[in-house]
Amino acid sequence: RKKVTIQTLRNLYKKGEPIAMLTAHDFPSAHVADASGMDIILVGDSLGMVALGLDNTTEVVMDEMILHCRSVARAAKSAFIIGDLPMGSYEVSAEQAIESSLRLVKEGRVHGVKIEGGAELASTIKRITQAGVPVVGHVGLTPQRQNALGGFRVQGKSRASALGLLEDALAMQEAGAFMLVLEAMPSEIAAIITKKLHIPTIGIGAGKGCSGQVLVQVDMTGNFQPGRFVPKFVKQYADVWGEAARGISLYRDEVKSHEFPCEKYTYPITPDELADFEK
Ligand code: KIV
Ligand code: NA
Repeated sequence: RKKVTIQTLRNLYKKGEPIAMLTAHDFPSAHVADASGMDIILVGDSLGMVALGLDNTTEVVMDEMILHCRSVARAAKSAFIIGDLPMGSYEVSAEQAIESSLRLVKEGRVHGVKIEGGAELASTIKRITQAGVPVVGHVGLTPQRQNALGGFRVQGKSRASALGLLEDALAMQEAGAFMLVLEAMPSEIAAIITKKLHIPTIGIGAGKGCSGQVLVQVDMTGNFQPGRFVPKFVKQYADVWGEAARGISLYRDEVKSHEFPCEKYTYPITPDELADFEK
């Protein structure tokens, strides 16, 4: 498969072909996403939850992002790789944001960075872009700001809120963002925002009117304990947990019953070699 570049993504957008994006957080999850034809792999700070066992993304730090981005980059041979700027790595100043973005590129080996927020980040996005790092904006439900938003809630339901999202989207585009993630908003609002922009939008819980879609890989592959909360917008395409649990319980039973390992899984030795050892 040919390497996906920013130009490839622009061409998909121009052709009207939806851009397929999926998160990955380590070598195997990136390998399977890349081999299965994803245009973009996102190393989201959701790795705090899916890989580090945190309750939310607010605790994730740069060193964790870099470690995980590096493992993803080793596996992703074709996909365009985007890494999240974690909370606390970009808000203080444009300089801080540029420094963090360059670390994600140079140490984490990503091709672009994603930043949560809105119009207030315009000058920051402009500076990161000027440093040669492609920027994806993330508007709507921005999980890093869950404490300010009052939890994980759908955005853009009121006229004022929807207008705010549009304003944020336009400001980020104007500042140089080459793509936007729209999270958790009515599809009609996401479709209107998408129409008003000349850069692609990637929806998550934002309906079909976006230029592409993204989901968190462990959510859509069902790689989590049944009963765990998943947002309304998650379609579960597989049952990885079920399949892993089935195999692991079987293994446990066979260990306990002395069934495993049978001869097939052991190394042979000739009678002569054995006699030599025993003498
Ligand atoms: O961290 C993440 O996985 C994300 C996507 C859900 C867009 O930001
Ligand atoms: Na994220």
